[in-house]
Amino acid sequence: MALVAHPIRNVVDARTRARRILPRVVFDYIDGGADDEVTMAENVEAFRRLTFRPRMGLDIGEPELRASVLGTEVSMPLLLSPCGLVRLMHPDGAAGAGRAANSRGTIWTLSTVAGSSMEEVADVGGHRWFQLYAGHGRSEATELMQRAEESGYEALVVTIDTPALGNRERDTRNGVTSPLRLDARTAIALGPQVLARPRWALRMMSDGVSVLGRPRRSSAGAQPGGGMAAAGAVAMLASPFTWDDVGWIRTMWRNPLLVKGVLTGDDAVRAADAGADAVIVSNHGGRQLDGAPATATVLAEVVDAAGDRLEVLVDGGIRRGGDVVKALAMGARAAMIGRPYLYALSVGGQRGVEGILDVMRIEMSRTMRLLGCASVSELDRSYLESPKGADLFPKRI
Ligand SMILES: Cc1cc2nc3c(=O)[nH]c(=O)nc-3n(C[C@H](O)[C@H](O)[C@H](O)COP(=O)(O)O)c2cc1C
Repeated sequence: MALVAHPIRNVVDARTRARRILPRVVFDYIDGGADDEVTMAENVEAFRRLTFRPRMGLDIGEPELRASVLGTEVSMPLLLSPCGLVRLMHPDGAAGAGRAANSRGTIWTLSTVAGSSMEEVADVGGHRWFQLYAGHGRSEATELMQRAEESGYEALVVTIDTPALGNRERDTRNGVTSPLRLDARTAIALGPQVLARPRWALRMMSDGVSVLGRPRRSSAGAQPGGGMAAAGAVAMLASPFTWDDVGWIRTMWRNPLLVKGVLTGDDAVRAADAGADAVIVSNHGGRQLDGAPATATVLAEVVDAAGDRLEVLVDGGIRRGGDVVKALAMGARAAMIGRPYLYALSVGGQRGVEGILDVMRIEMSRTMRLLGCASVSELDRSYLESPKGADLFPKRI
């Protein structure tokens, strides 16, 4: 476990420090988005543009942040989104992120292509969800679901925004081929970047993670014996789930089911009709369809369409505890983060992720006090101002 020399101050600080530690190809894999990265930037901007309607003259004491998400009690409604190739960022990998979430009383989600198999990280324990990709169809999905249930994953997250792979130009510019190959040929292309970041290279080598060339020790995701390179290849595969597939998955998976990647009220209704318990309003952090709306701008529409049929979670652009408060005020049950914890993991492994969760918790708490709201369960849209010209509060449909 790496020491975090100075505590991480905020997400921007974590990003700056991650950039100094990681080879460019890895930093860009985290930091980049699709095409012109318009949606990625808008995710952040849309949360920033939302402003509060604070209530003054109240002394509410320590605000209550505890919440319930799909029947699970969490210490705060901030969860970890599923992310691929996490072990490229730090040898602690998905297990480190999971342990950090556990120690802070919240839920973590393992991606099919995290780079660690679900069995490998199952002993991390705590409340954990599994995110399903199945580029090879229903037989692969069936096997993954069985393994997830046997390994104690409590809910299944089906990502539906990957009918094709988004155009991530930073990756191709950095010499990553599609599907992502981390073999000898790529090693020659990426070698100088890695040599420029000896601390990262040493950290990886000492843990036996071979990122350039054949893995010395298997860290396979879904691919038996495949290692990081295989997980990478899968990460670059499209996983085209249809609503019909979601309905079929519902018949195979009896625990809570979430659909990730919903951006309209209509699709929330489809998810409910297919038997989902929750949707995650998400555009994959702007990594898929550039020009997709920022999640903060469609959250209210989805919440209204979901009514009491679905719980609604949201990710994309959450960079401060205040953004979490805004999401909850619009009606989300919880918010999730991707890049913020990946930057922090890159900086300090498990301790880095704990650090960023602590920072965001303090930010949430302070925001609630300044807002004059005693509990996250009391947040509603009356605490928000709609930015000029934006209809964040559509009529109930
Ligand atoms: C490096 C990286 C890898 C990701 N891999 C996955 C994945 O394997 N499965 C998935 O459903 N979403 C994946 N996502 C999307 C995240 O789950 C999440 O939707 C997004 O990061 C949220 O936006 P944020 O990064 O602004 O918080 C990935 C995101 C990043 C940054």
